[in-house]
Amino acid sequence: MASNSRGQFSSKFGFIMAAAGSAVGLGNIWGFPTQTASNGGAAFLFVYLAMVCVLAYPMLVAELTIGRYGQSNPIQSLKKVWPKGKVGAVILGITAMTVASLILSFYAIVAGWLVGAFAGSGLEILGMDAAAEWVTSFGDSRNLLLMVIFMAMTAHVVKNGVHDGIEAWSSRLMPILFILFGVLILYIFTQEGAMEGLEMYLIPDFSMITPKLLVSAMGQSFFSLSLGCATIMVYGSYLSKNVNLPKTAMQVAMVDTAVAIGAGLLILPAMFVAKHNGVEIFSATGELLSSDTLVFTVLPAMFHTMGTMGTVVSLVFFLLMMIAALTSSISMLEVPVACAIEELNQKRTTAVIWIAGVITAISAIIVFNFGALFGLVIKVTTVYGQPLLGLCWALFVGWLWSRDKVLQEIKQGYPELEKGLFWKIWPWYVRVVCPILMLMVFFA
Ligand code: PFF
Repeated sequence: MASNSRGQFSSKFGFIMAAAGSAVGLGNIWGFPTQTASNGGAAFLFVYLAMVCVLAYPMLVAELTIGRYGQSNPIQSLKKVWPKGKVGAVILGITAMTVASLILSFYAIVAGWLVGAFAGSGLEILGMDAAAEWVTSFGDSRNLLLMVIFMAMTAHVVKNGVHDGIEAWSSRLMPILFILFGVLILYIFTQEGAMEGLEMYLIPDFSMITPKLLVSAMGQSFFSLSLGCATIMVYGSYLSKNVNLPKTAMQVAMVDTAVAIGAGLLILPAMFVAKHNGVEIFSATGELLSSDTLVFTVLPAMFHTMGTMGTVVSLVFFLLMMIAALTSSISMLEVPVACAIEELNQKRTTAVIWIAGVITAISAIIVFNFGALFGLVIKVTTVYGQPLLGLCWALFVGWLWSRDKVLQEIKQGYPELEKGLFWKIWPWYVRVVCPILMLMVFFA
């Protein structure tokens, strides 16, 4: 049966690269720095760090534990921890799978723009300016083509399975990402204006801390750690029983947070280097330009002011962003694919082809109705979907699942669990504190 031949991560390193690959993405390199820039610099950073520690990390362990216990796709895993009334588990499993697929549908569009920016820099080096202009200018056919290319790359990796696809590619790409990242940070600090950006990043404006900022930071931490939509649950299901879950989750959270903090060190100084080079970085109302304007207008304009070197830096920057996006998108596609393989008894290749096809079709609908759908899909999935599903996982682990079974599951890779601080805090924390915090922040 298909479920008996399910893949597994071959090493702890492979798992950490894959899970950190899922976590490290556009949320870190783009979302985090732009939110920090427009929300009081280090004030946002502090609140974000607090959210990672008090909410995202405990939830990461919870989601991983459900997955590893189930050793199956999210629908089956949730059924196994749900004592009775399995319909609820099926509904939640399908909802999580849908949220993961919808996140992929908008993520692939943005990632397509990155492919375009990367290709644009390459075409410029080759002197093909008209083609470079086409791949970097917003337009329906260009958005569609680039999204399809990115979806094809994602499907190709996932088609090769957990070990030869997801693990192999993440283990190759993540170290490259770390190196490119380090090189770019060092480079940007050699440029005039970088220090001004650093100041804005590191000097907090605490007056910016409002309930809205708490919600943004919570959403950002959930998005950044890929929580709620069962990607972590699926990856956990491919994890062997002798892995120490709290420790491994800690390592994944630390890599993700380090990359987010590092991205702040790259993007904020880069904005002020751009300003120093004469690029407009403030809007008419005096706010810092953020989001897509920053990545696709300000940074390319800055690269242009640097001449040939700028084109090379641009190539490296967009390659880095593409790698980050790809290691995240494969984790999203794996959720519905794992469900189809095990629930519908399909071959991996069949499942990948039709599911990637459906998600590409949804993305295409968004491309052609961009104004109406793009923001809406992002809001529904990341502002509501992920935190609410996360809340459900906390309630599952805290209330529905027998505490003894949770203990036995985590203990397999951490025999001295009961003696440590983790087991004294985490169970009641996930049971009471996480749900209350989430509801408080949500209703704020
Ligand atoms: N964590 C990814 C990022 O920061 O870009 C985004 C993401 C991946 C969200 C996987 C949700 C998910 F299931």
